[in-house]
Amino acid sequence: MTELYPVPGRVSSGSPSPIPDLPAYREAYARALDDPDGFWLSVARERVRWRREPTEGLAGDFHSVLESPLSWFGDGQLNVTETCLDQHLETRADKTAILWEADQPGQGRHITYAELHREVCRTANALHALGVEKGERVIIYMGMVPEAAIAMLACARLGAVHSVVFGGFSAEAVRDRVRDCGAQVVITQDEGRRGGRTIPLKSVVDQALEGERGVHKVLVFRHTGAEIAMAPGRDVWWHDVVPGAGDSHEPTVCGAEDPLFILYTSGSTGKPKGLVHTQGGYLTYTSYTHQVVFDLREDDVYACVADVGWITGHSYIVYGPLANGATTMMFESVPTWPDAGRYWDLVERYGITIFYTAPTAIRALAAQGDRFVLAYARSSLRVLGTVGEPINPDAWRWYHDVVGEGHCTVVDTWWQTETGGIAISPLAPVTPTKPGSATLPLPGIVPVLMESEDRILRGPGEGRLCLAQSWPGQARTVWGDHPRFVATYFTTYPGYYFTGDGSRRDRDGYYWITGRVDDVLNISGHRMGTAEFESALVSVDAVAEAGVVGFPHALKGQGVYAYIVLQHDQVASPELEQTLNAAVRAAIGAHAKVDLFQFVPGLPKTRSGKVMRRILRKVAEGQPEALGDVSTLADPSVVDAIVAGARKL
Ligand code: PRX
Repeated sequence: MTELYPVPGRVSSGSPSPIPDLPAYREAYARALDDPDGFWLSVARERVRWRREPTEGLAGDFHSVLESPLSWFGDGQLNVTETCLDQHLETRADKTAILWEADQPGQGRHITYAELHREVCRTANALHALGVEKGERVIIYMGMVPEAAIAMLACARLGAVHSVVFGGFSAEAVRDRVRDCGAQVVITQDEGRRGGRTIPLKSVVDQALEGERGVHKVLVFRHTGAEIAMAPGRDVWWHDVVPGAGDSHEPTVCGAEDPLFILYTSGSTGKPKGLVHTQGGYLTYTSYTHQVVFDLREDDVYACVADVGWITGHSYIVYGPLANGATTMMFESVPTWPDAGRYWDLVERYGITIFYTAPTAIRALAAQGDRFVLAYARSSLRVLGTVGEPINPDAWRWYHDVVGEGHCTVVDTWWQTETGGIAISPLAPVTPTKPGSATLPLPGIVPVLMESEDRILRGPGEGRLCLAQSWPGQARTVWGDHPRFVATYFTTYPGYYFTGDGSRRDRDGYYWITGRVDDVLNISGHRMGTAEFESALVSVDAVAEAGVVGFPHALKGQGVYAYIVLQHDQVASPELEQTLNAAVRAAIGAHAKVDLFQFVPGLPKTRSGKVMRRILRKVAEGQPEALGDVSTLADPSVVDAIVAGARKL
């Protein structure tokens, strides 16, 4: 029997949340189920500043999506920055919008809504002068400096489509994204800072753009002051064009379904795909979920310590919080620098009330012992969020008991790049929680567990998680490849959106996400495809074939296990392993690494030549006894060699 953590008693007064208690949740859920258009239109009208209010709700469904993208609020018109910035000038001009904590503890900036508005306008004017127009794609490759958010919002002001690439990605990954979305402008900085180290962002951009003719301007923000190369005619310093640009910029009016951004994410096959999020629905959904999940109040100090390079940063550092007029933190550093007390130091210094991080950070910090937490005052905290991977109950309890001293609501928020915003999560402080469970779906989210291809599981049990009804924050397509969008999400279970995750549902209807059921890896909350690793590994001459799977890892959630078949004249060695990891790093980025290599005589293949990945997974997971039927293998002796040579950390 799992313990049920009741709603903390003392925190429910003063909340402007439209869902103040459990009956209100049930009622909102029922309304969104029965009348999604009515429900979401009223949320959209209330939360978004429209130029033309929408009268249309959802157009299309999970069948029609095979032909063309879904649409929400199709006749609405807006510019998202008017919701995120202009509307606050009346009542919150001097309120801190962005609270920036630099890599160096205690250094940073407070940027008010008035200042942010001005900086975004200046940057929009500067970008426009560089030739950026509505609908054009702009790649943003930066670290966690306020200018990254300013660049995103400046693109939005112009109706240009930003695509932020996480600052850890390699030159090859940047080049792929520039090409795929056809960007003509890249925004970067000289160097990033992280945990006392510098990251050579501009030189990675230079490498990525070598020989690329499409990009005609690179806007460079000076951060560390390092010597960098500037290509004449192409590269422009931020400080030469932004500060002198005009302080106001008339926003470009966009259709609700115009693209707002593209964010690349890994799938089970091929290269990462560029998921497209649109203006009206995404803003409505991130604003609403940010309010109801975190029980946001006017004087909250809200800190999501993710990176803007991922969807969590887009939705819950930038768009959701700014739409809601919140004070939102941008954190340049890492949780363990200069020591494992960094987060709690932030909490004490800024009086953070809502704190949002990933299970991998919680596990790493818990492993360092309680003293780093106890050294700082944390009584300001009210809500503790987690996202990105399943949180094990021990880590959940440590977060709840030690960090939150038992008086905060822990919200384990399940969602994906594709969902745009939180989809299954407790609402603070409304939903009674259970350690390790994402609990209940948000209004508008209709989870279905599939037992088999066409059987829906009713009641408690475990299955593959699908969603049965569209919600406004849903990604609309894959940039330039709608058939890929359809094939990835809507063909496995026709009429349903397939998440790629497995989940259990208990007797109370609570969801317990078990992790990916496809070939997507989740390493410290970073999503990567096994196919991306395999293609990097086979690019090394010594390698004939590679098979990559995940295995349980105490800190990272999952580790990466690579089976390597060498060319006949090659021998395994630690140096070769290093070469292989260098190839992975070059293809994907600094956050990608194989933890365990096993050199094998061959991969287990069926007679039709398909790799039986189940075998690779079971051996990597340390369960060689659970291999199941191997009789259809072309050469069953391969399995004996794989089992005999299995590696462990
Ligand atoms: O497997 C799920 C896991 O992260 C995947 C989505 O990754 P990404 O698109 O990078 O977005 C991460 C941030 C939203 C999901 O398919 N995941 C995310 N949150 C949780 C989770 N798994 C379990 N519990 C969660 N709270």
